[in-house]
Amino acid sequence: MSAPVDFRGVALFPGLLDRAAQEAMVAALRRVAEAAPMFHPETRFGKRMSVRMTSAGTFGWVSDRRGYRYERRHPSGVEWPPIPSEVLGVWRQVSGTDRLPECCLVNYYSEAARMGLHQDIDESDFSMPVVSISLGDDALFRVGGLSRSDPTASTWLHSGDVCVLSGAARRAFHGIDRLKPGTSTLLPQGGRLNVTLRVVT
Ligand code: SIN
Ligand code: MN
Repeated sequence: MSAPVDFRGVALFPGLLDRAAQEAMVAALRRVAEAAPMFHPETRFGKRMSVRMTSAGTFGWVSDRRGYRYERRHPSGVEWPPIPSEVLGVWRQVSGTDRLPECCLVNYYSEAARMGLHQDIDESDFSMPVVSISLGDDALFRVGGLSRSDPTASTWLHSGDVCVLSGAARRAFHGIDRLKPGTSTLLPQGGRLNVTLRVVT
């Protein structure tokens, strides 16, 4: 594994997953989505988010008119499936901690989907990193500072890239501006999967 590239405090591991590893992970995520189907979350204000999502692990991240939070069950009432071993392997490689992630959030971006600038701050222990894996089409990743009004910069994430948000960047504002459709052949239907791993408690 080569040393990460620093992007505004975020550690980027470009191409950490080769094509075979990406395909194996997509197959594992498909099994997650069979057990816990992808859904379109809504914001507290009733606005549908453009990504579809599901989770694996002890906790899943959900959002609806009651607001956003971690839950032990999928909205249908089933337990979240276990985090796939392929995904845990990436966590072990880059997280720098012996603790295991409790939430594996899986976001699917269709061509037009995006993710507004936000912080990951629903967890209890910010000394634990957030690990994020990109699969499929390229995505423009924006990173700012600890305040929404801080300056931001963006970089393209490619299929197989892994990012680690830790230290000062753990609570940095970040988001996905847009996808570049047709840039990857990994997902037959196109678009992008993002896997985010977090320790919650
Ligand atoms: C997120 O911050 O939840 C997703 C980031 C990404 O899609 O790369
Ligand atoms: Mn996030």
